[in-house]
Parts: sequence; C-alpha cells; structure tokens
Amino acid sequence: MAQDTLTITDNRTNLTYSFPIEKETVRAMDFRQIKTGPEDFGLMTYDPAFMNTASCRSSITFIDGERGILRYRGYPIEVLAEHCSFLEVAYLIVFGDLPNEVELKNWTNEITHHTMLHETTKKFMEGFRYDAHPMAMLVSTVAALSTVYPEARDIHDTNNRLRQIKRLIGKMPSIAAMSYRHSLGFPYVYPDNDLNYAENFMNMLWKMVEPKYVANPVLARALDILFILHADHEQNCSANVARSVGSAHADPYLTTAAAAAALSGPLHGGANEEVLKMLDEIGSKDNVPAYVKKVKDGHGKLMGFGHRVYKNYDPRAKIIKWTAEQVFQVTGRNPKLDVALELERIALEDDYFIKRKLYPNVDFYSGIIYQAMSFKPEMFTVLFAIPRTVGWLAQWQEMLTDSEQKIARPRQIYTGHDVREFLPMEKRASAPAAAD
Ligand code: CMC
Repeated sequence: MAQDTLTITDNRTNLTYSFPIEKETVRAMDFRQIKTGPEDFGLMTYDPAFMNTASCRSSITFIDGERGILRYRGYPIEVLAEHCSFLEVAYLIVFGDLPNEVELKNWTNEITHHTMLHETTKKFMEGFRYDAHPMAMLVSTVAALSTVYPEARDIHDTNNRLRQIKRLIGKMPSIAAMSYRHSLGFPYVYPDNDLNYAENFMNMLWKMVEPKYVANPVLARALDILFILHADHEQNCSANVARSVGSAHADPYLTTAAAAAALSGPLHGGANEEVLKMLDEIGSKDNVPAYVKKVKDGHGKLMGFGHRVYKNYDPRAKIIKWTAEQVFQVTGRNPKLDVALELERIALEDDYFIKRKLYPNVDFYSGIIYQAMSFKPEMFTVLFAIPRTVGWLAQWQEMLTDSEQKIARPRQIYTGHDVREFLPMEKRASAPAAAD
C-alpha cells in the first residue's frame, strides 16, 4: 500500500531511513539522522538561493507558477483587482479575511490618521543630497522611523505590533512622496485626510498652489489597482529578508527598511526602472530583433522577463496591460508601449524564451504606466515598496506567531583552509600569497 514516506538507503553504511512526506515536502532536519558514525554531524541539504526549500508555512499568498495563478488569502488576484480597494486588500492580507463595512471604515480611518510624519523625520529627509535616489531615501527614512517609535521594539505585544503595522502602511506614501518632492526641489505637501489612499498619495506628490488637490479618478484607480497587484508575493527575496531580519527580533521599521533594501535590487523590484532604460536603449520597434539576438548571445537580460516561480504568464502582467489602456485614455499612449509589445511578441515566439519559460513579469508593463503618469523611472521601485509593505508586515507577523520559527540561520559547506600554522609578520613576506 502506498505510504506518505520517503525511504533512503545510505550507500556508505547500507542503512535505510524512512521519513514522513507532508504536503509534498520532507523535513531537512530528518536528514541529520543519516550518519556514518556517532561523531558524524549528519547529512545536510545544499540549496543555494532556496531553489527547492520551503522556509516556512504560510497562509497568506498562493502562487501556482505553472498555471499562472496568484491568490491572496484564497481570493484570485483578478477578482480583488476588479472589486476591491487597496486598503480593503491590505486588511485581507494582514487579518486573513475581507473586512465588513464597519471594519473597512475603521481600518481606513486608522490608516488615514497615521499618514503624518514627525517634523524631525521631515528634517531628516531635508538632509539628503538634492540628487539622492528616492529608493535610498525611502529605505533610510523607514529605518529612521525606528528612532521616532522606540516602543515598536516590543514585538511580542499583539496590539503594539498592529499599531506599528498601521503606522507603516499609513506613512509609506508620505515618505515616498517626500522623497519625490525632495528630488525635484519642491516643498513637502502634508496629507489630506479627505482623500482615499491613492488620491492622497497623488496629492502629496503633485499638489502645487491649488487650495485643494483633485485627483483624476481613472489615474487614482489605476494606482490603487497597481498597489493591489504588488501587495504580496509569498516568499520573494524581500519577504524572505523581512522574515530573516524579523526572526532576530529587530523592530518592524528596521525590518521593513531591510526588506525595502532587498526590493531595490534590479533583479527584484528595481527591474521596473531597468525595463524603462532597456526600452529607451532599444528606441524603436525595428531595433527589437537585434536586441533580442544580443540577449540570446549572452549580452544582458530582457529586463521584466522571467521569474523564479512563474513558468507561465505572470497574472499581474495581464491586469497591468489592461490598466495601461485605461491610463493611456487619460494621459495619451506612451510610445514605449509599442516597443514593449513588439518585444513581448518576438520573445514569446522565440525558442530561447519558450524553452526557458520566460514570460513578461509584473515589472514589464508597470513602468510604462508610471511613466505615462509622469513619474521619473527612479520612483518606480518606490511605488512598488508602498504596497509591498503590507506583504512584508503580514509575513513578519506570521513568522513571529509561528511556534516552529526561530532565528533564521542557514548552514554552510565550508570550503576554506583546514587549520593553518600562524606566521609572525617578519616571516610572512616570503610566504606564498593567501588563497583568499
Ligand atoms: N532574459 C534572458 N534570459 C533570461 C532571463 C531574462 N530576463 N531570465 C532568465 N534567463 C535565462 C537565464 O540566463 C538562464 O538561462 P540558462 O539556463 O541558459 O543559463 C535561464 O533563463 C534560467 O534563469 P535563472 O537566472 O536561473 O532564473 P532565476 O529563477 O534564478 O531568476 C529572475 C529569476 C527574475 C531573477 C530572472 O529571470 C531575471 O533576472 N529576470 C530579469 C530581471 C527581472 O525582471 N526581475 C523582476 C522579477 S519579478 C518581480 C520581482 O521579483 O520583484
């Protein structure tokens, strides 16, 4: 009769071991029983870049990369993007269920009342150089919030944790907008509590001398949808950083700053900025075949293509394409869209990309929308960080309340020298150069 176990024979000893299989997974710690003798440490598993290692149990986000499925707390991303506001989805991700009317009203009210930044934080931001990258400003300022809210260190108190989660969700757009205005040399704009989350962000970005900022509803909704699409993505690089830093019991501001730092990398959230640079470099549709050939010849990558988990079309990219059409009706068509569409068409017909299952990811089209909305490319990853804060904090909270989790501490396979004889300085000149 079939059993949910894995049987392994160690050919060094001829001993056989049986390990349980649960949810298609075996526990790496079971392998430590496999030893050649009592002094042996036991077998480890080697998995650089976590290619095949589950680091946690999570009930937040489900991805089926082969079928192109993404769900938050069981709800398909397409349904949430069509019917919900970003704060409604944020509530779902943080608490596990969609809010009822009263819960959403209270939640929205609380987030809205956490949008102000302390004046010292404003002064802190004024200290950045005029040409500082907005993402570097965001990472540093989020870390600096730790100095404003020292009580956040009490990470074991559920209510305290929740207060910091609300603060961070409320303050991210304010920090993002301040970093944008700083890079333009414009004065900061304070939040307007009459506006919804996306509208208020637009207010803080673009209000000039008018007494009241009125957001274009199509653009505000597009931004809200983009926020929904970026809110969480299970154990991606930055979520893994949030869990890892949080596992040492760092406070949520420092944890979020660390996660945002990971997001800034061009292989992760920084890819949206790189896509725009790539489209600029390609210039026109006619140059696409030559660019694709260059990539296939090993010179660079198609930015915004490929994903560790999706081996089918990224469902978020589909929704973004649709959203782009809505935005372009207001802003006019971004000519880069034609280059992007041609790039996608040619790549998806090409054996190199088909064989490697490389499809456009979320970053491929988002930058084109952001640019049409008049954001500078340096802001694109900042726009990703605002909603992803919800995911990081939900992952952080889930990790802290999981009794199986401990401080994250991988093992290594040591490849350095065995014990060496110490040479005093006067004898080292004639010694051969060190290996590393
Ligand atoms: N263009 C050309 N070739 C690619 C690309 C690409 N964008 N992505 C992967 N490949 C090739 C890669 O060279 C390798 O080929 P080979 O088997 O011949 O060595 C093969 O496809 C497998 O790639 P990999 O690097 O082993 O895959 P990975 O899972 O380690 O990397 C990735 C995933 C997203 C880092 C990678 O696809 C990539 O660098 N893409 C471009 C950057 C990008 O768009 N990042 C955003 C990811 S989605 C949003 C997010 O996470 O923030």
